[in-house]
Amino acid sequence: MIDSNEFRKQAHIFADWMADYFEGIDKFRVKSGVKPDDILKQLPPDPPDKPENIQDIFNDFQKIIIPGITHWQSPSFFAYFPANSSYPSLLAEMLTATLGVQGMIWETSPAATELEERMMDWLKKMTGLPSGFHGVIQDTASTATLTALLTAREKISSFKINEEGFDNSVYRIYCSTETHSSIEKGAKIAGFGKKNVVKVRTNNRFEMDVDGLRQAIESDLAKGYNPLCIIATLGTTGSTAVDPLSEIAAIAAQYKVWLHVDAAFAGTALLLEEYRWMIKGIEKVDSFVFNPHKWMFTNFDCSAYFVKDKEALINTFSITPEYLRTKTAGRVNDYRDWGIQLGRRFRALKLWFVIRNFGVEGLKEKIRFHISLAKDLEQKINESMNFEMITPRTLNLLCFRFKPDGITENEELNRLNEKLLEAVNATGKMFISHTKLNGIYTLRMVIGQTNVTEGHVEKAWQVLKDRVRSLEFEV
Ligand SMILES: Cc1ncc(COP(=O)(O)O)c(C=O)c1O
Repeated sequence: MIDSNEFRKQAHIFADWMADYFEGIDKFRVKSGVKPDDILKQLPPDPPDKPENIQDIFNDFQKIIIPGITHWQSPSFFAYFPANSSYPSLLAEMLTATLGVQGMIWETSPAATELEERMMDWLKKMTGLPSGFHGVIQDTASTATLTALLTAREKISSFKINEEGFDNSVYRIYCSTETHSSIEKGAKIAGFGKKNVVKVRTNNRFEMDVDGLRQAIESDLAKGYNPLCIIATLGTTGSTAVDPLSEIAAIAAQYKVWLHVDAAFAGTALLLEEYRWMIKGIEKVDSFVFNPHKWMFTNFDCSAYFVKDKEALINTFSITPEYLRTKTAGRVNDYRDWGIQLGRRFRALKLWFVIRNFGVEGLKEKIRFHISLAKDLEQKINESMNFEMITPRTLNLLCFRFKPDGITENEELNRLNEKLLEAVNATGKMFISHTKLNGIYTLRMVIGQTNVTEGHVEKAWQVLKDRVRSLEFEV
């Protein structure tokens, strides 16, 4: 074990390494090139009996671990959705780790609870969510959605399922065919059964078809099923399609069904007034989640969950064993009752640092910049002879493919684009991912990394064109 002097010395070395990492991040391969077991076989099968010094462990970190890292913070990381970070967030995480707070109840750190309360209020104001919503930080959107499903389940059953288990009712959950897999996972865990997740068709823009939704509910009612919850997505994972919230909200109100909104990625765009159209109808929504850990420069993990009926949420999760009884109960927020886990990390601190250090204007500027970079590249794709957009851009995700002259058969194009994706990522100079939209193998490029510049996007475009040439096609 090290003492405080050694800790101080090492912490300075680490801080220098961290700053060097960010300054030199462009020199790393973005997507790790290691093969399965490459890392494992360098790690001893047994733990050390004797203490090892930090410098040796740190050297191994650089030698063994770094080559197996995919650099999510690289400005040339364009895959999936980002899990971006920033200096203020990192600094706050250092403090969080130092304090090592476990903020399960107000009394275990009043500041952790009250800062969380205030940060959730700030986020509501920043994104235009109704002031009557109550916010709590969850680890991920998957957990937040599961929390919503469980609360909906308890509310509809007058909190009976918690007490007695399921009766014979069949509960149904509605989402679109483009909905994130976490919804199905949540439905499985909450005990509804995967087959009771009804995947409603989408229109040609991959948005939920509201007629399809209404028909599905009507058909279920005719069979004696219990429509429980609709999940609308703002910003689908495949193509950032935005489900028509106000029409869906009207249906949810008519059939008295819980309405949960999954805005995991796109929620950050609500900071911009010009994207508030996405939440028209929000006052009818029961719960809402978005991830500052995706596009709001706040280290993974930090998911902002909002709920209208706070009592239903708390009644679903509250259990008070004797050892957690407090005199402040009822007067303060004890966040252990607002979700699944008891122990909670102090995540509000990094949000506080990020929001204050960027300022709301600074956050908006960066988000707008990312969207403008995506718009410029979309134009280049549209003007190019051999690439085509698969679906129009909504925010900063581009869904496109390589389509050379003379090849029209979809399967062949799919194979070609899969090859192109592999070739592009194998360069190590950038990282993009893919999805399938209507059977079309689609390249996905999200421009949302904290430090991405026009130069990084231009470089990526050149790499794409260069790899097309390497497949022996003209661009
Ligand atoms: C629309 C959507 N919902 C939910 C999730 C799951 O997010 P998390 O990793 O926070 O559970 C994702 C992840 O990309 C997503 O795109």
